[in-house]
Amino acid sequence: MLNMIFAWVLVIQIFFFSFCFFFPPIHGSLQSTDTKHDKGLHLMSRISLPPSPAPEAVSPSYNPTTIFNVRSYGAIGDGVTDDTQAFKLAWDTACQTEDSEVLVPKGHTFMIQSTIFTGPCKPGLKMQIDGTLMPPDGPDSWPRNNSKRQWLVFYRINEMSMQGTGVIDGRGEKWWNLPCKPHKGFTGTTQPGPCDSPVAIRFFMSSNLSVIGLKVKNSPQFHFRFDNCQNVYIESLNIKTPALSPNTDGIHIENTNNVKLYNSVISNGDDCVSIGAGCYNVEIRNITCGPSHGISIGSLGIRNSRACVSNITVKDSIIKHSDNGVRIKTWQGGSGSVSRVTFQNIHMDTVRNPILLDQYYCLTKKCPNQTSAVHISDILYSKIKGTYDVRSPPMHFACSDSMPCTNLTLSEVELLPAQGKFVSNPICWSAYGTVQTLTIPPVFCLLGGTPEMLPQNGKERC
Ligand SMILES: *[C@@H]1O[C@H](CO)[C@@H](O)[C@H](O)[C@H]1NC(C)=O
Ligand SMILES: *[C@@H]1O[C@H](CO)[C@@H](O)[C@H](O)[C@H]1NC(C)=O
Ligand SMILES: *[C@@H]1O[C@H](CO)[C@@H](O)[C@H](O)[C@H]1NC(C)=O
Ligand SMILES: *[C@@H]1O[C@H](CO)[C@@H](O)[C@H](O)[C@H]1NC(C)=O
Ligand SMILES: *[C@@H]1O[C@H](CO)[C@@H](O)[C@H](O)[C@H]1NC(C)=O
Ligand SMILES: *[C@@H]1O[C@H](CO)[C@@H](O)[C@H](O)[C@H]1NC(C)=O
Repeated sequence: MLNMIFAWVLVIQIFFFSFCFFFPPIHGSLQSTDTKHDKGLHLMSRISLPPSPAPEAVSPSYNPTTIFNVRSYGAIGDGVTDDTQAFKLAWDTACQTEDSEVLVPKGHTFMIQSTIFTGPCKPGLKMQIDGTLMPPDGPDSWPRNNSKRQWLVFYRINEMSMQGTGVIDGRGEKWWNLPCKPHKGFTGTTQPGPCDSPVAIRFFMSSNLSVIGLKVKNSPQFHFRFDNCQNVYIESLNIKTPALSPNTDGIHIENTNNVKLYNSVISNGDDCVSIGAGCYNVEIRNITCGPSHGISIGSLGIRNSRACVSNITVKDSIIKHSDNGVRIKTWQGGSGSVSRVTFQNIHMDTVRNPILLDQYYCLTKKCPNQTSAVHISDILYSKIKGTYDVRSPPMHFACSDSMPCTNLTLSEVELLPAQGKFVSNPICWSAYGTVQTLTIPPVFCLLGGTPEMLPQNGKERC
């Protein structure tokens, strides 16, 4: 009799043991939902929690990814409730787990405040954005103690992919209409006052990033900013903001190298893509810009700064209804260089300055003449075809007197007026280079050979 009781206890123990062993996620997910009310856990949210996968993780798939649904961490997603803490908790937990995914589910709109998502994280981190993300609506709703210069920041991330079918809506309108902004076209009057507006998505000091397939719209300022990053892969983005929204660059990079930007469509109120100081090994292919201010290298050399930019390729792309096509702009007084830039196979449709190289960049028309400049060399313009807006000459090479541009090459450049008369006087100043095939309009103003006075002391080399 006693033996039988022992046997039953054993059976029951085995049953419970195996139950707990095989079904731990139930326990885990309960715990993760419970913790949303626990203030202490928010403070310690960087400390690794026991693995607490949301129910999705149990799906019969060979994908080992552990999913951290922000809704399992307390996010409501009604577009009104502040979901910041839930996102932070989901992030911190995922960050400590290998091959994890922060899931922003579709069918919900999450309102989150300016947040810094900090790494380093375990390898294989994914941020899957299938729903909509929004910040507070405009400067008056922005919490006073939050940075007004950035919204979503990813900092010290060593490997991450951000992707999905969702929308990131920067709700920029109230920021664009601040009295200090040059808005509403040429009649807008600009008044002094605080003018900071947040960049929608900033990656800072991060590497091995991919950003794929998202829609990003109406950023208060730049849509994406990458600074001090390496190995960035960007694909199939759709960025959309009104043409008259100030400073809304699509993708801005600076001090960032090994960047690939492919297959994206950008329409906005400032540069489609802007490439700042310290960028090299950048390839841009198959993007459609417009309306926009085109693809820019610069502005570089502001306040006598040094800038080095090299090995930039932009090809197989379309620029339409834009103020500029492909542009290199530097301030007088800078140093350093821009070299090995290729603009190839670019179709222009009604672009005001399809090819523009300006070493006298100045916002006020009152910049004093200076002798130093960022040296520009080895720039290839090949197969640049299409139409221009006749208000400006289609080609404009204004180089520094003291530091001429060298080795500019034009090949198969054919630009016709979108409407009206030919503008047949391309501008060249201190520009050395060669025309490989007859261009339309013809360019006879490039100087041959190499300038004599180019300083060879190596100081300008990067
Ligand atoms: C801002 O203030 C709120 C309320 O006082 C606080 O909960 C929040 O943590 C603060 N945020 C920052 C970034 O300091
Ligand atoms: C991440 O990038 C660094 C260089 O920035 C590289 O050394 C490393 O191998 C990369 N890691 C992965 C996982 O790709
Ligand atoms: C170019 O990008 C567009 C999306 O912007 C895409 O639909 C198209 O397939 C891409 N073309 C190539 C050749 O990859
Ligand atoms: C130039 O950049 C491309 C990537 O865009 C890279 O593959 C290539 O190796 C770079 N060239 C040099 C000389 O670094
Ligand atoms: C700067 O130089 C240009 C051309 O050499 C000259 O036309 C212009 O008057 C100068 N501007 C100033 C402010 O000295
Ligand atoms: C001039 O630039 C082209 C690329 O645009 C490059 O292939 C060539 O080597 C450069 N020439 C010199 C002398 O550096």
